[in-house]
Amino acid sequence: VQGPATQEPTVDTPRGRTWQRVCGLGDFGDSSTLVVQVGHRSIGLVRLGDSVHAMLNQCPHQGAPLFKGALPNGTMLPSEPDELLYGLDGSVIRCPLHGWEFDVTSGAALFGICNKRVVTYPVEVREGEVYLLIAQREA
Ligand code: FES
Repeated sequence: VQGPATQEPTVDTPRGRTWQRVCGLGDFGDSSTLVVQVGHRSIGLVRLGDSVHAMLNQCPHQGAPLFKGALPNGTMLPSEPDELLYGLDGSVIRCPLHGWEFDVTSGAALFGICNKRVVTYPVEVREGEVYLLIAQREA
């Protein structure tokens, strides 16, 4: 992780938090993931076009590294009998240990499998650089 933001953020910075540059947008391709280390935290990034989502690289079930070998996928949606319905393409991360699925935009577990969510971080992409809003003590 490199130095602090060099520009003013476009959204307010809450007290006790700071914008931290974590990588360049060009460091990973569209519809792919990248794991970065911020302080002692491992954080998974998901790139969807020119937008990036960030989640703690830790499953809320039993703590597995969510981004180990993970690519953003879709999932099978609730559907009628004898109907297969695929959706949410590119916005689902599946835990490699037990297969629970999480929405990368919110961190929520899909389909009520649990009421826990993955910790997410606000992201800004500025001039091709990716910044996360994190607690200053985590920087
Ligand atoms: S540790 Fe992730 S689903 Fe069990």
